[in-house]
Amino acid sequence: MTRKILVTSALPYANGSIHLGHLVEYIQTDIWVRYQKLLGNECYYMCADDTHGTPVMLSAKRRNLAPEELIAQMHAEHSADFAAFNIGFDNYYSTNSPENKALSELFYRQARAKGLIYEQDISQAYCEKCRMFLPDRFIKGVCPQCGAAEQYGDSCEVCSATYSPLDLLDAHCTECGGAPVQKNSVHYFFKLSAMTAELLAWVQAGHIHTEIYNKLQEWFKQGLHDWDISRDAPYFGFQIPGTDHKYFYVWLDAPVGYIATTQNFCAQNGKNFEDIWIKPGFEIHHFIGKDILYFHTLFWPAMLLAAGFRTPDQVHIHGFLTVNGEKMSKSRGTFIQARRYINAGLNPEYLRYYYASKLGASLNDIDLNIADFAYKVNSDIVNKLVNIGSRLGSIVHKKLHGRLTAPDAAGQAVLAEINAAQSGIGQAYEELEYHKAAREIMRLADAANKYINDSAPWHVVKTDPERAAQICTAGLNCLKTLTAYIKPILPLTAAGVEKFLNCGELNFQNAADILTHCQINVYEHLAQRVDEKEISAKLLG
Ligand code: 2FM
Ligand code: ZN
Repeated sequence: MTRKILVTSALPYANGSIHLGHLVEYIQTDIWVRYQKLLGNECYYMCADDTHGTPVMLSAKRRNLAPEELIAQMHAEHSADFAAFNIGFDNYYSTNSPENKALSELFYRQARAKGLIYEQDISQAYCEKCRMFLPDRFIKGVCPQCGAAEQYGDSCEVCSATYSPLDLLDAHCTECGGAPVQKNSVHYFFKLSAMTAELLAWVQAGHIHTEIYNKLQEWFKQGLHDWDISRDAPYFGFQIPGTDHKYFYVWLDAPVGYIATTQNFCAQNGKNFEDIWIKPGFEIHHFIGKDILYFHTLFWPAMLLAAGFRTPDQVHIHGFLTVNGEKMSKSRGTFIQARRYINAGLNPEYLRYYYASKLGASLNDIDLNIADFAYKVNSDIVNKLVNIGSRLGSIVHKKLHGRLTAPDAAGQAVLAEINAAQSGIGQAYEELEYHKAAREIMRLADAANKYINDSAPWHVVKTDPERAAQICTAGLNCLKTLTAYIKPILPLTAAGVEKFLNCGELNFQNAADILTHCQINVYEHLAQRVDEKEISAKLLG
């Protein structure tokens, strides 16, 4: 039976560029979505820029732009970067949209109607010169524990102490250097504590990985804290209805952006977003990093439950990216932007393959090791996969009039082995165990190459062209089926093979069909070897 699936990745902030760390998530999600589509499932992939909040507002101000101008520029930049890596969103929208405003207000009204919103006066750091309340990240000072200078208002990067900005010594505003004062204002809170039982039931119903479940249990044990959903002006965001210059905190309207993006998509495609987010029928899958767990497994389900929307079926959580074994860092030059990779002339398919070859369902961090990257590209994509096409394509064209015939018995045996692996590979994709899928595909490519080497069509063709055609037909059918298997990871390479084999669009249903007695096209270059030193110089130099 076909499944109906709505998939999201976390919405990237509109005040920064996409980097290779972000791409772990978008590539992971995109592979899963492509796999679902190739299976024939009805699957939609939604994402948007996360546009609101103090950092975006201040970043625009520093560049002398209106926030709307900055987010328009960033939307164009992000869209181009994602397109370069073939991230196939069905809609890439913005949280600063009319749909999102209306939906955020609806969520708020529903929560209020259920008695889940209350007001409370709180005291916070305020900069009189900038005339604004300062989020923790906009206050710096001396760490009260270890004495390190220039530490943020919430935690020390030197000794890892966490504290309140009030404890910071010699505190100052990062924008103007002035000393903040304490000031009171009314804030709106969402009563998360009142939803403990419902949330516990949701968490226990198997929507998250067991590793995460244990982490959540700790939070439940400590007791859930109510959530401050408002911010004072000046703030770039949506004003809270019925208030005087209070705004929704960015983390309220950001996840609502998943729904707003779906609504915008549905309006353009003759669909109704309520069929996805309110009525049963669709599965909802969120892909996120482990840093935003709390928002997606507590606040977000609570908001959805309060507003009468569907809760996520799965929240898939991944680890972070390290580069050559270390945390990405601007000072070490390992904070590599997506654009830099593209401008270096590196093939985006290679990064997709490399990440896939390392990704599993766990929360472990994954490491981009440049030597390993070069090794895998050369040994797997170039030598194992694409090589089948380049070797056999030239024989078929130069000596066999570009025609395939039918596979010989030995070739049929290899094809049977490849076909038998389909369900295991499919399961690996489904379970996000992409490293297993990649390993299995390459094991089968080894088997295909062994068959081709043993059969030596380049010799056979000199004396027995008919038999050589059978070998080439078998070998190229191996390539065809393996290409269908790897298509979620390497969509562009797959398109190149489809063109070469003249076989139409491959998917998980036609993967095993055999191409016989047909004309194929001339092989055009699909992948080229890379050099570790050159990549290091281009990405890290
Ligand atoms: O952590 C982040 O980068 C956020 N911009 C993610 C938002 S995800 C969703 F909730 F909108
Ligand atoms: Zn200031």
